[in-house]
Amino acid sequence: MSVRPILTAPDPRLKAVSTDVGAVDDEIRRLIDDMADSMYAADGIGLAAVQIGVPKRVIVMDLDQKSGKKNPRAFVDPKITWASEETATFEEGCLSVPEIWESVDRPARIKCEYLDRDGKVQLLEADGLLATCLQHEMDHLEGVLFIDHISKLKRSMALRKLSKAKRLKETG
Ligand code: NI
Repeated sequence: MSVRPILTAPDPRLKAVSTDVGAVDDEIRRLIDDMADSMYAADGIGLAAVQIGVPKRVIVMDLDQKSGKKNPRAFVDPKITWASEETATFEEGCLSVPEIWESVDRPARIKCEYLDRDGKVQLLEADGLLATCLQHEMDHLEGVLFIDHISKLKRSMALRKLSKAKRLKETG
């Protein structure tokens, strides 16, 4: 298990459309473990494989870790099979868009199908933070960032702030 560096916008590799895994083998389980380590090291609650430069449809998430106990969940080849018309708004952030937080509207409830780390098909009905987080991470698999959901003006302000922070980090 190892912590891998997380790509940040506007890195073009974040725009890659991830490919299906198909079958969960030991290599994918190693990827899941590295992703969980990388997510915890960066103090995040979710991570898609493409964020560490591996364009495969794998997501890890842990919404409980703020409470101190680690309970990482893996979602392989996730698909949304149903989404509510009702929407919910959350302030979203992203390890690939550090220090930027913006409100995003998304379907409030979803049904989703995925493979777990044992390769078993799982069905999940989600609402609240879990529904938002899953949709945010699944966007990464299509090369979409949460800032792609906000206005152009807000997006360019966010990217400017980000590149300024990057420059400061490189010089400081
Ligand atoms: Ni993200």
